[in-house]
Amino acid sequence: SSTRFYDFKVQTMRIRKLCNTKNIVAINGIFPGPVIYAQEDDRIIVKVTNETPFNTTIHWHGIRQKLSCWFDGPSYITQCPIQASQTFTYEFTLVNQKGTFFWHAHFSWLRATVYGAFVVYPKTGVPYPFKHPFEEHIIILGEHWNQDVVQLERSTVGSGGGPPVADAYTINGHPGPNYNCSKNDVYEINVVPGKTYLLRLIHAGLNSENFFAIANHKLTIVEADAEYTKPFTTDRVMLGPGQTLNILVTADQPTGKYSMAMGPYSSGQGVAFQNILAIAHFQYAGALTNSVSLPANELPSVSDNLAVKTVMDGLRSLYTSNVSKEIDTNLFITIGLNVQKCHSKTPKQNCRGINNGIMAASMNNISFIKPTISLLEAYYKNINGSYTEDFPGAPLKFYDFVNGAPNNIPNDTQSLNGTRVKVLEYGTRVQLILQNTGTVTTENHPIHLHGFSFYVVGYGSGNYNPKIANFNLVDPPYMNTIGVPVGGWTAVRFVADNPGVWFIHCHLDLHQSWGLGTAFIVKNGKGELETLPHPPADLPRC
Ligand code: C2O
Repeated sequence: SSTRFYDFKVQTMRIRKLCNTKNIVAINGIFPGPVIYAQEDDRIIVKVTNETPFNTTIHWHGIRQKLSCWFDGPSYITQCPIQASQTFTYEFTLVNQKGTFFWHAHFSWLRATVYGAFVVYPKTGVPYPFKHPFEEHIIILGEHWNQDVVQLERSTVGSGGGPPVADAYTINGHPGPNYNCSKNDVYEINVVPGKTYLLRLIHAGLNSENFFAIANHKLTIVEADAEYTKPFTTDRVMLGPGQTLNILVTADQPTGKYSMAMGPYSSGQGVAFQNILAIAHFQYAGALTNSVSLPANELPSVSDNLAVKTVMDGLRSLYTSNVSKEIDTNLFITIGLNVQKCHSKTPKQNCRGINNGIMAASMNNISFIKPTISLLEAYYKNINGSYTEDFPGAPLKFYDFVNGAPNNIPNDTQSLNGTRVKVLEYGTRVQLILQNTGTVTTENHPIHLHGFSFYVVGYGSGNYNPKIANFNLVDPPYMNTIGVPVGGWTAVRFVADNPGVWFIHCHLDLHQSWGLGTAFIVKNGKGELETLPHPPADLPRC
């Protein structure tokens, strides 16, 4: 293994999209940002220098950060933001990890433009467990916002109202011909007839989940969240923000120009979404025609929950898993949106949610409030007052979405604000039952856990019922972000063997801002390899 150095300069950059010119934050003047290439077990060192007037941090999404929690990146969880003209050097090892990852800003909604791929190849001489592709391509799904995203977060949360909608979907930063002024703003892959390509799909978007398909072509999933899966062939896939999929595509159709399309998946009724497809081109060498075949039946309709379930059902670990059969701690966690009542202190104009309340989101009825210093620092240095250790192991009030309706909201289903975390002893075998609920709508939530991958051992519709739930302990997929089905539940398992403070949250940034998250404090074990090292000297201060 070797050590790889990268220099990330956080800069502002002027871009023109959809007939609009704006400043964005980007790394090294490149958008999407620079790709990190490495091999399994490599050491990665990234010096991040902030040349903007804004705060930021970088998170290495999917990297488990074994014994290196200080470098995980979520602001106010493991570090204070890197402020204007400050530098922070991230250093970590890719222990037993390879595949498609990405990195992104983890401050406010800066991820909208601060993201890039992170590709980790197997060790030298170790082949892929499938036929070696002719070529590989990175495909990053994203969103374009005309507005400044940091201000947008502030105004959305401050107003208490509903969700804003992206101005465009993008594929590797390009919206494609369906959008204003974007006829030539199209991403293209050139392919040779008969060859097989590996596409590394990454969803970096802020606030929407999306289907992806290539007209007339089959997609074979071989990896999900940087872990190999049994090959599964499908017409389309769905990714939520934070998910990655490796797919094989063979250029086996008549020579031509085919569209690769990204369309909305909006699971919840009444959820606002951008309804224009982003289009990129999958273009055969020798294609003469200018006409592009559109994906006819490949893209499902916007609320096709069955299409999502079909892909999920197809995700199986390539190998027999070593998921633990025993559980030490079983947490039942409701996740969903709700309306908080306005208090005497709330400015009236802010109460724009349903029933004149404020839109909020919660886990077990607690809306997570980020502290003003990092949780990891507070925990490590025993600084009192920034969090409490009483995250409830079950919801304070369980709102049964099946029998309820938004116009029949009980008064006691509002969430409480708090920075409540859950403490886990080193080595605890944990099961989380994530139960989708909500008093406004329920919708699919992509839940992401930092510091671990988890086995997705079960999922289903309706309320979780242990008597009939069916678990897969043989070959469950090993993921870091899982879409909890609309009106349903998902069960995941992991072993808490990585000391530190680990954020778990909905990867739809809007929901994160509304409070859909919490953190696990994993205590040190006894040995040196079970103990979190000291913080780095250049750790930013708040
Ligand atoms: Cu990809 Cu907490 O994030």
